[in-house]
Amino acid sequence: MEIKTVGVAGCGLMGSGIAQACAEAGYSVIVREVNEDLLGKGLAKIESFLAKGVEKGKVTPEHMREVLSRLKGTTSLDAMPVCDLVIEAVVENLAAKHELFRALDGICPERTIFASNTSSLSITEMAVVTRRPERFVGLHFFNPVPLMKLVEVVRSPLTSPEVYEVAAAFAASLGKTPVRAADKSGFVVNRLLVPYLLDAIRALEEGVGSVVDIDEGMRLGCGHPMGPLTLLDFVGLDTTFAIAEIMFGEFREKRFAPPPLLKRMVQAGFYGRKSGKGFYDYSQQPPKPVPGLV
Ligand SMILES: NC(=O)c1ccc[n+]([C@@H]2O[C@H](COP(=O)([O-])OP(=O)(O)OC[C@H]3O[C@@H](n4cnc5c(N)ncnc54)[C@H](O)[C@@H]3O)[C@@H](O)[C@H]2O)c1
Repeated sequence: MEIKTVGVAGCGLMGSGIAQACAEAGYSVIVREVNEDLLGKGLAKIESFLAKGVEKGKVTPEHMREVLSRLKGTTSLDAMPVCDLVIEAVVENLAAKHELFRALDGICPERTIFASNTSSLSITEMAVVTRRPERFVGLHFFNPVPLMKLVEVVRSPLTSPEVYEVAAAFAASLGKTPVRAADKSGFVVNRLLVPYLLDAIRALEEGVGSVVDIDEGMRLGCGHPMGPLTLLDFVGLDTTFAIAEIMFGEFREKRFAPPPLLKRMVQAGFYGRKSGKGFYDYSQQPPKPVPGLV
């Protein structure tokens, strides 16, 4: 079960980072988006990340050229059958993931391993729509993927032990530290992180402090590298809302319920950094808190 070619479905925030990390580790990578515009934007993100590394002297121009030469972008699934492993990083929506895995299952050879980067959906529920549930795992990366060292490697009750070990070794081959997790919504990190992020929004709704007070409180009081509302803008409020809905549906506990303010912000198109506005307005330098949220 040697992995040489990796397919990545989705070239958004996570897919672009996963594609980059795989190409940097020496794998041939085929990354698929739904249209040329989104594909171009995703590939441009990778190029600009590497270019910044060259500017700072952390990456040589030759290394950047080599990494980019290992990356191929596409808007079709036609090239996926050559992949030994396909990692899915499309929107956090079960129907969208089911549709993609059904299509991949129909065209990829039996040996291809499937992985999902889902934050909160069930690996088992995705695996069972394919004819290869024993070759299906979770590989949960963290944002920004090229810098973050953790990958949660998730097994379903149907995952074969051999495939699970291949997946853990693959994560390690990217220079990441694999942490093993069972298929429980949110795995280890989001189980603990999501209620904290949602509580920060509730604190804002209840007037405990302003956006800046809450962020500075956790940054300076707890030594976190950034406050929870800044982190939410990085993660994406649309993605966080989807994750909270899924975790609340799974556990039926208030701590996972999305607060009304989060829902309103998503309805208004305030997705965080990716849309230019979330808790902060990124059209301003430095970003300023958005007025009138509560
Ligand atoms: N944002 C985070 O910090 C984070 C961290 C870990 C895991 N995740 C998970 O990663 C996944 C992607 O999240 P994201 O933040 O990158 O979202 P995103 O919105 O930035 O990107 C998703 C991309 O998938 C594309 N897409 C949709 N259907 C597709 C298909 N059939 N084939 C190819 N591309 C398709 C969309 O066009 C979009 O560009 C989600 O499951 C999310 O829960 C997110």
